[in-house]
Formats: sequence, structure tokens, C-alpha cells
Amino acid sequence: MAPNVFVSSHPLIQHKLAILRDKATEPKKFRQVVRELAIMLVMEATADMPTEEIMVETPMATTRAQKLRDRIGLIPILRAGLGMMEGALDMLPAAEVWHIGLYRDEKTLRPVEYYNKLPIAPTVSVCLMLDPMLATGGSASATVDILKKWGAKQIKFLGLIGAPEGVARLQKDHPDVPIYLAALDERLNEIGYILPGLGDAGDRQFGTG
Ligand code: PRP
Ligand code: URA
Repeated sequence: MAPNVFVSSHPLIQHKLAILRDKATEPKKFRQVVRELAIMLVMEATADMPTEEIMVETPMATTRAQKLRDRIGLIPILRAGLGMMEGALDMLPAAEVWHIGLYRDEKTLRPVEYYNKLPIAPTVSVCLMLDPMLATGGSASATVDILKKWGAKQIKFLGLIGAPEGVARLQKDHPDVPIYLAALDERLNEIGYILPGLGDAGDRQFGTG
């Protein structure tokens, strides 16, 4: 495994992932678990974030404390990344949210951009990309291209399930972007879906399958 690919072995993450994989899990429960998993992945992906010292008045005394130093941007990739954004925002309520809209063309499997309202200059110092599925890696790689063109300096990818093909593609195109996953699955099938995976993450969250 490459040094900047982090696949969680946390039992709680594995337990919740099993709920998502189960085809009987209905959209309401699916969305709830995506949100919870995003919270746990944010914990993992922010473990190395720098802090700065502040002084805080407790009811008892004045003490030194720490606060996050960087301005963080959450970048949910529409649509399926929306469910992860909810959980990530619970953990990082001061984060800015910049949506990027991409869908994967069913025939070519190439990403097609349809929404991007990033301002001219970057307003955050760290971007956390949120997308449950890293399949061919085309959508993630294209999003990093967009963010780098914008001027983003530090970018991390947070996803639920990755395929080896997608991890390899993102690593090759953007070796500086660490990848945080709840699971690394076996492979893609002939139409670009992750096996065993969980199906279509957008459809399962929004009941559109
Ligand atoms: C899914 C998923 C990723 C993309 C991954 O989105 O949420 O964005 O596919 O595939 P890739 O790694 O091969 O690019 P989809 O295009 O189905 O759009 P949706 O989120 O609107 O359902
Ligand atoms: N997008 C999904 O939602 N699921 C996959 O398995 C692959 C791409």
C-alpha cells in the first residue's frame, strides 16, 4: 500500500460499512450511516492537522488550549458526496463548503462537469474532498485538477469504498493527495462498478435506483 493511502481498520467503521453494503438497507438508514462514517473519516483525515495555542477561561482558571490553525474547505462531489458533507460539517462547523458537480458518463466512464461556483481565488488552505466511491478514479482526479487550478495547496480525498483501479489512478495523477477510505475493495466490474461495493451510492442515498 502506498504511504499516503489510509484504509481504516476501525471495527466501528467496518460494522457501519456492512450496513451500507447490505442491499436491504433503505435510503433513510443509508444516509444516516453515510453521515456517521463521514464523521469517523474526518477524524482520521484531520489527525495530522496543525493547531495553534489560544487562551481559554474555564469556570475555574485561565488555561492554554488548542484550536485548528487552517481554514478548511469541504468539497462534496455531487451528488453522492452530499451525504458525507452533513457528517463532515458536524465535525467542522466552521468549514466552508464548495460543491463540485460531476457525473460519470455511463458509456465512457469519463467525468462530466456540470456545477462549479468556486470563487476566483482560494479562500481555504486545506480542501477535504468528499465522495463515497472511488471507482475508476476519473471523477476524483478531475476534481483535484479543478481544485489545483483554483490554487488549492493541500488536498485530501475522503471516500467510503475505493477500487484498486481508482486508487492507482488518483495516486498516479496526484501523488500529493492522500486518500482516506473505509475499505479498499477487490476490483471494478465490466461497467465500472466496484465489487463487492455497495451499488450506486447516489441512488442508494436518494432512492433513485
Ligand atoms: C459516482 C460517485 C463518484 C463517481 C465515481 O458518482 O459518487 O463521483 O461515481 O466513479 P469514478 O471513480 O469512476 O469516476 P456518479 O457519477 O454516479 O454521480 P452521482 O453522485 O450523481 O450519482
Ligand atoms: N459509483 C458508484 O456509486 N458506485 C460504484 O460502484 C462505482 C461508481
